[in-house]
Amino acid sequence: MDLAGVFRTIMSNLSLDSMSDVQRSTSNVEHSGITPEIELLQGPPQERLRRLKGEKDVCIVVPPFDCSHRYLPFHFDEQNEKQRAYLDRVTLLLSACAETVRDGGLLFLYGLPHWLPHFAVVLNHYLEFKHWVAIKTQVNQPYTGLKPEHMGLLIYAKGSQKYTINQLRLSHPICRACGDTVKDGGGKRHLMNASGRLLSDIWTDLDVDESSPLPQSVLERIVRLSTDEQRKKFLIVAPLSPSMPPPEKTAAPVISGGETSSSLQIEDVLDQIHHSDCISFLQRLPGESVDLLFADPPYNLEKRYNGYSDSQGKINYIRWCNRWLKEYVRLLKSGGSLFILNLPRWAVYHAEFLNRYLHLQRWIVWDALAEPRGKLLPAHYALLYYTKGPRPKVFNYRGAIRNWYLFDEAVAPPDAPDLCPRPNCIRKRWLKGENLYSELSDIWRDLHRVRHKRNRDPHPCQLPERMMERIIRMATNRGHIVLDCFGGAGTTAMVASRLGRHFITMEQDAGYVDVAQRKIDSLRRKGFVERRSVSRSDCELSKRKLQLELKRLALALGRLPERSDVEELSCYSLSDYDSLFPRWGEALKAAKLVDFRRGAPQDGAYQIKQREEDNQLELF
Ligand SMILES: C[S@@+](CC[C@H](N)C(=O)[O-])C[C@H]1O[C@@H](n2cnc3c(N)ncnc32)[C@H](O)[C@@H]1O
Repeated sequence: MDLAGVFRTIMSNLSLDSMSDVQRSTSNVEHSGITPEIELLQGPPQERLRRLKGEKDVCIVVPPFDCSHRYLPFHFDEQNEKQRAYLDRVTLLLSACAETVRDGGLLFLYGLPHWLPHFAVVLNHYLEFKHWVAIKTQVNQPYTGLKPEHMGLLIYAKGSQKYTINQLRLSHPICRACGDTVKDGGGKRHLMNASGRLLSDIWTDLDVDESSPLPQSVLERIVRLSTDEQRKKFLIVAPLSPSMPPPEKTAAPVISGGETSSSLQIEDVLDQIHHSDCISFLQRLPGESVDLLFADPPYNLEKRYNGYSDSQGKINYIRWCNRWLKEYVRLLKSGGSLFILNLPRWAVYHAEFLNRYLHLQRWIVWDALAEPRGKLLPAHYALLYYTKGPRPKVFNYRGAIRNWYLFDEAVAPPDAPDLCPRPNCIRKRWLKGENLYSELSDIWRDLHRVRHKRNRDPHPCQLPERMMERIIRMATNRGHIVLDCFGGAGTTAMVASRLGRHFITMEQDAGYVDVAQRKIDSLRRKGFVERRSVSRSDCELSKRKLQLELKRLALALGRLPERSDVEELSCYSLSDYDSLFPRWGEALKAAKLVDFRRGAPQDGAYQIKQREEDNQLELF
């Protein structure tokens, strides 16, 4: 029986959901003749799970959830018996499910972003976290705040074997106005594969019913991603109890003075970039004094910061984060908003901590275009949005349809997702009067990383100003106080100041303080930011130049170039490569796009428009 047939049988027997068309993808599951065996447990599963220890290749778990809860702010109260009992029972379920997976197998967990962090922290004891996939679903109920589109699917791997999943490609979405790709490559166009984009950890292309315990299209994709010769035995665990308790309404516990001694007056530290360690500075500030707190901490990713080691052990990193988060909770005014940006693997710990003190409004997904890496492109950055108390005091967004004006102080609705961000296309759309908006939801796909050299400061992870502008406009009014304890190149300070808000930022590195201070001084003196750009002169090396050089060699050689080929044939030296790329595989990324059977770059359903530099390569 083919894959679709297997699903049809399961679904009609067990009525998890109705059938949808099998999605189009380049996965070979359908053609390889592998038929997954899928067992489904819906009743009380504990006894059966015990007997399945180590038997399954893939386990898909769906703890019972009520999708109407995602329309409400969420707070976890340790003292609330219903919440505690629900978490305890799901914890037992998850540990038993993790046991059913054999070494080298996978576990998928589907659910509401509110509860998933609590489950993730449990599963992290047994399995290795791989991805938080954000899935866009239909929204069928009225809502306040950001439109809640996001449901989560966590992916875990078991044991020491190498983690593998199948590669899926989807066709590039095309801008309905100009016919070019919706994503413009962000300076990495030479790495785009013409035959389609790699599936990322943000799935917006599926038709997903929010109330379905396991939507058919999601299940199909999970099977396509995971099935291979070694992985055929699937288990779906979707018990009907315990039912999810309603969100906690009581006030969150207050974090008060404690060890802190607030020796600073808030008025004395306003509108300054403080050269200081964040925790010691935060501890000296008075409680309930800030309207908006934002943090973009180092991601423990071994980034090359000046004067800071970005590779702490996992436990140390989480403990350190909880220390400044605790100060953040204390400093936030009642009704104030707090936003934390991090990778999902760390954000689950932040959320599990913050859910106990604040109200989660949304787990916002920032789709930050990433370059191809791994088989599931990592694009998902978590932007956790909390308030002190169930409702924000300020929420400046009036909606795409209702009364939004171009010069409004409130946040603008984003362009519709099938329109591209190229300025030329935007201009033409405006002239034709065709600029179509969509509602701002908890999946943000319209904010790109800083791409142009002219906007880039000498800092490895400067955020786009548009992101800070959206957050600050949405959560504050003029005159309010915005604090960011990881100031970096000063994006938060600058945007807050430009929007007439007060700012307080901290930064441990004197060089970055200097960069930020210069920007603020320029803004105050001239009304705009004069940058000392880090643009490279033409003769300077860039990753792009070196990657394209390897693509050129690949075309000439008819195979992937080796290091010795560079020594013999290239105008660049091996040390140039070693200085810019940690691994040879990364340098080869553009070369890997060459289709050696045809001796020319891959030619998909449509042509990616080649840039000048690429065209020159073809002539070589
Ligand atoms: C991810 S970057 C923030 C970038 C910033 N959002 C921007 O747009 O420029 C994190 C920053 O935190 C700084 N940092 C790391 N540890 C710190 C600490 N203990 N106190 C203050 N700043 C710290 C790093 O030097 C780095 O500049």
